[in-house]
Amino acid sequence: MAFSLDPAVEKTSFRSRMVGGLRAADAGLQLRLCGWVHRRRNLGGLVFLDLRDRTGILQVSAGPAWTDEASLDLARELGAEDVVQVEGEVALRPPEARNPDMATGEVELRAFRVVRLNRAATPAIPVFRSPDEELPSEELRLRHRVLDLRRLEMQRNLYLRHRLVLEVRTYMDRLGFVEVETPILTKPTPEGARDFLVPSRNHPGEFFALPQSPQLYKQILMAAGLDRYFQIARCFRDEDLRADRQPEFTQIDVEASFIEPPDLFGWIEGLMAALGQVAGVEVPLPFPRFPYREVLEAYGSDRPDLRFPGKLQDWSRVLADADSEVLRAALSQGGRIRGLRVEGGVRLSRRDLEGLEELAKKAGARGLLWAKRSEEGVSGPLSRGLAPGHWEGLGLRPGDLALAVAGPDRTTLPALGAVRVPALRGAGVAPLGSTAWLWVTDFPLFEVDDEGRLQAAHHPFVHPHPEDFHLLDSEPSRVRGLAYDLVFNGVELGSGSIRNHLPPVQRKILRLLGLSEEEIDRKFGFLLEALGSGAPPHGGIALGMDRIVKEFVGAPSLRDVIAFPKTTAARALFEGAPSPVTDEELRELHLRRWEAAGENG
Ligand code: AMO
Repeated sequence: MAFSLDPAVEKTSFRSRMVGGLRAADAGLQLRLCGWVHRRRNLGGLVFLDLRDRTGILQVSAGPAWTDEASLDLARELGAEDVVQVEGEVALRPPEARNPDMATGEVELRAFRVVRLNRAATPAIPVFRSPDEELPSEELRLRHRVLDLRRLEMQRNLYLRHRLVLEVRTYMDRLGFVEVETPILTKPTPEGARDFLVPSRNHPGEFFALPQSPQLYKQILMAAGLDRYFQIARCFRDEDLRADRQPEFTQIDVEASFIEPPDLFGWIEGLMAALGQVAGVEVPLPFPRFPYREVLEAYGSDRPDLRFPGKLQDWSRVLADADSEVLRAALSQGGRIRGLRVEGGVRLSRRDLEGLEELAKKAGARGLLWAKRSEEGVSGPLSRGLAPGHWEGLGLRPGDLALAVAGPDRTTLPALGAVRVPALRGAGVAPLGSTAWLWVTDFPLFEVDDEGRLQAAHHPFVHPHPEDFHLLDSEPSRVRGLAYDLVFNGVELGSGSIRNHLPPVQRKILRLLGLSEEEIDRKFGFLLEALGSGAPPHGGIALGMDRIVKEFVGAPSLRDVIAFPKTTAARALFEGAPSPVTDEELRELHLRRWEAAGENG
């Protein structure tokens, strides 16, 4: 992706051009250039500087024949990352000195004059321009973020992010969506994480919450008749971090009125295609749609990576008469034997299999049974108690590996879901393509927690599936919602639903979630008021902007596509946040230190 400016707009009071676009045709131009000293080499009487700006690197040469004496002396002692201004003439390099690996490799700037605009401390980490270099530890990179952000890859990521955001705005605008900013100081929005709270100085004992999402505001905007809203929205969630989560992240937040899910699917597919075009990512349309229950049974996950075709199977019937205590026990307790046939899986080593078992255990299984079939026969823990007829029944061919977990669906499915892609990859199964997109639909409306209480599976504003409405009172845990996720290569990129626009339905869902009428009015009175003032049927989605950029550039972490991210310990290392506050500051906010409060009281 081009990261240079149009030469016509490169000029500033300090410089006439930027460096990355200079070519042989520019030879003879007298220019003033600015940038960072990427590298310096002293060769006999000559000094070569690699001058870097965001558009690239250009060789600058200083020598007694064309550089003034003071400038030459300065050039000799310039350090890495010093900021300089160089005046000189673009010259063709002699043929033997041309560098075909550099975009500017045919030319150099013969410097007449060199000025140091700022001296840089010895860089704590190197500024790499090639993606192949081995990077310093992430902690060091985050600590010295200013240097890390000078890295070509980081600059490219941020630039792509900018281009994608631009494209989102253009595309949504074309469809009549209006961007509206919603508040950052707000009331708690239930999205399943903890809130970041901000104490109110003016109102002792009262707090704002930072928004976990603009969910309620976008619904109110629909009630207000805006018809189509979007926002590039910052969201805040105080949750335990994982590689794919940040406490502060950005959503492409969308809501529209008088729609059903397919309206939205069409718009978002078009958006993804437009973004794919910017990033050079394949987006074959339309995306397939699968009900939640179906993907869960077939792939053991609600965000399956469909680049890999292998599906889980129910082996309960085939293995019902196997002479195995483990299998029999699982079946007799109402569980199932679920399995995965891995073509070519015999090549997985014992260590690979131990690794897979670890994954299955982490996902809640007691263990992972496996068997390998070769021309000679079948071996492995799953083979005990099984007869040749069973292998035929499972469709296991020589060279194949069978993986199985026995027990209730809530453990077998996630466990096999966790091992599916690593096992297929390990066996050398080729992905079907570079991208796999899908919609997962009809998620359950509720989850049942350990104490048997209903929790919102997504958030409490999802409309129940019309076919399941009658189950709301009798069997709420079986009710599906009009909720959907967008999944890309096994990553949840977005999530949304049709909402409850009728106040009695919304109240009923909140009651089922265990809220009293008083709590409902206190927490959601403003939403119910908006719904009750004539809200149209509406729905929407939010897409993770950071995740889209990360997946599109293939970065290992969200931190590679966010300029100033938090660590997994939820700290900002460069600026040093969070940081302690003084007693005086606390007093102004009507807060006391927890320990101090304990001592006093
Ligand atoms: P949800 O909570 O599923 O839905 O979030 C939507 C999308 O936002 C991204 N995302 C995150 N990205 C980085 N770090 C995080 N901590 C994080 N949490 C979520 C994911 C996710 O798919 N209000 C609803 C949307 C709606 O119903 O319209 C919501 O926020 O890509």
